[in-house]
Amino acid sequence: MTVQQIIDTTPKAELHVHIEGTLEPEMLFTIAERNAVALPYASAAALREAYNFSNLQDFLDLYYAGVNALQQVEDFDDLAWAYLQRARQDNIRHVEFFFDPQAHLDRGIEPTVFMGGFITACARAREQGLQVQMIMCFLRHLSEADAFATLEVMEPHLGDIIGVGLDSSEVGHPPEKFARVFDAARNMGLHLVAHAGEEGPPEYVWQALDVLGVERIDHGNRALEDAALVSRLASEGVPLTVCPLSNLKLCVVDNLREHPLRMMLEHGLMATVNSDDPAYFGGYLNDNFHAVAHALELGDGHITTLIDNSFRAAF
Ligand code: HPA
Ligand code: ZN
Repeated sequence: MTVQQIIDTTPKAELHVHIEGTLEPEMLFTIAERNAVALPYASAAALREAYNFSNLQDFLDLYYAGVNALQQVEDFDDLAWAYLQRARQDNIRHVEFFFDPQAHLDRGIEPTVFMGGFITACARAREQGLQVQMIMCFLRHLSEADAFATLEVMEPHLGDIIGVGLDSSEVGHPPEKFARVFDAARNMGLHLVAHAGEEGPPEYVWQALDVLGVERIDHGNRALEDAALVSRLASEGVPLTVCPLSNLKLCVVDNLREHPLRMMLEHGLMATVNSDDPAYFGGYLNDNFHAVAHALELGDGHITTLIDNSFRAAF
């Protein structure tokens, strides 16, 4: 088998995908029309043309604008269902997807609305044999108090959630800001992950490990700037959920040939490949594998290690 065939046919797990980032422009237009929400673009094609980002914040501004169209149970169901169906095409067998409760709560959308939609879509996907779990992320640009209030309002739904994460604007919002919230989540039996080292410095990865006590690092690219941190991640086998096309689109790397994924494997880090926000970044999971395998000239061994890691790193 060629590397391309191995990528396409091997069963995989996806551990870093924001469900709101799977909102394709066509679905956004359909849902916006259903909810009588005006969009500042003439068509799905015109919106797609706007998907040129110079950094994380540029993307987040459009991502939150898209999220605003989601209002009813059916919208959240359609969103999650479309992604879960798309995942099956890529031979994904296990998904742990992120969602952003605060992006909905802050607009007055009740937890029963978004959780209701997600749960229905997940149940149908499970009937087809896909394993699906949900992780709720705190928006790090908001306060610790807001994160605590979110944990409280989501408490009745925690039976459907396996963990908490930390996302949104990284620089200026270090993990330590959420130390007490993560302690509370740990005491509730939830798994812990955090985005760190996407745009933020290695110090944020240290904090995610030592202050928050996370079990996986989402991204972790900038960990490679710190040799002691690389040793720590390698010796403890801390998984990194790496997102190549996201890194390219958000200018975390200038070129996929400069992507650190191959270096991560060479340092013995438990790297995995993921799609992050595939509707915005130009590809789903297999597209990420193909692009990075081509750019970094990865061989069969690299691909099978990355795919093995995806299951080993899964909760
Ligand atoms: N990074 C940080 N926060 C996010 C992202 C991302 O890629 N997608 C959605 N929220
Ligand atoms: Zn992410």
